[in-house]
Amino acid sequence: PPTIPTANIQAHLTELGKIAAANGGNRAHGRPGYKASVDYVKGKLDAAGFRTTVHTFTQSGATGYNLIADWPGGDENNTIMFGGHLDGVTAGAGINDNGTGSSGLLEVALTVAKQQLKTTKHLRFGWWGAEELGLIGSTRWVASLSAAQKAQIKAYLNFDMIGSPNPGYFVYSSAGQPTGSAALTTLLENYFRGAGVQTEQTSVGGRSDHAAFARAGIATGGTFTGAEGRKTAAQAQKWGGTANQAYDPCYHRSCDGVNNVNATALSRNTNAIAHAVWTLTAPAALRSA
Ligand code: PHE
Ligand code: ZN
Ligand code: ZN
Ligand code: ZN
Repeated sequence: PPTIPTANIQAHLTELGKIAAANGGNRAHGRPGYKASVDYVKGKLDAAGFRTTVHTFTQSGATGYNLIADWPGGDENNTIMFGGHLDGVTAGAGINDNGTGSSGLLEVALTVAKQQLKTTKHLRFGWWGAEELGLIGSTRWVASLSAAQKAQIKAYLNFDMIGSPNPGYFVYSSAGQPTGSAALTTLLENYFRGAGVQTEQTSVGGRSDHAAFARAGIATGGTFTGAEGRKTAAQAQKWGGTANQAYDPCYHRSCDGVNNVNATALSRNTNAIAHAVWTLTAPAALRSA
């Protein structure tokens, strides 16, 4: 795949920061900043030629929104999905959590469109609502599918916090995940190996939106640069940054703004998304230049 331009990913983060600032400082479920975030991402995808759908649900007395974007083409009986949550907590703008995953996914999708990628498998993206209230949006969307629709989805890759300011390079472990997940772990590890970045596997358990897919028996994977956990001395040796400090000291706090991002980590993880999109959906012989 082409290298994803860091400036474009950053521009999406800047917009999400402005959206929060214009809407009471956050992008949380049930608040105007969330719907404005959906409108921003949807507008970009619609203009690029994606088929978008907004799936609505009700949670805690407010309407929630999931945004689904299908790239036309490919075998829908072999659908590969990529997603992350677009909502944030009420405390702040939610830029590392999860403006980073949302913006990385968006820029990869826009690159797919720019390249007019020809896929053999069907490619679909999802931006989830109300993750911060307990993985609500992704859970409701998976629950809305028929058994046949679930069976069409062969893999789901999740990106929640991929630009932590004191980053770790974690790939979701396949332990306890459905059959096929180990291949997704290896695929993501291979990207980082090729980029000269050491990774560690992490058992994310049920802490993000892949959980609903895993419960439906769908193979899952993903990457993560760390939240409230602290970087060890050994990790600081191989990754740089600050030992004994949180990967994201602003996790779920008001200081999770546009400056709370490590651009190198965000860029590497976004290129990992692109590597997975291209490798899983588009055999080399069919790729456009
Ligand atoms: N889902 C957590 C949050 O949004 C963050 C997280 C992501 C934790 C991935 C572990 C693994 O707050
Ligand atoms: Zn969070
Ligand atoms: Zn998150
Ligand atoms: Zn690659």
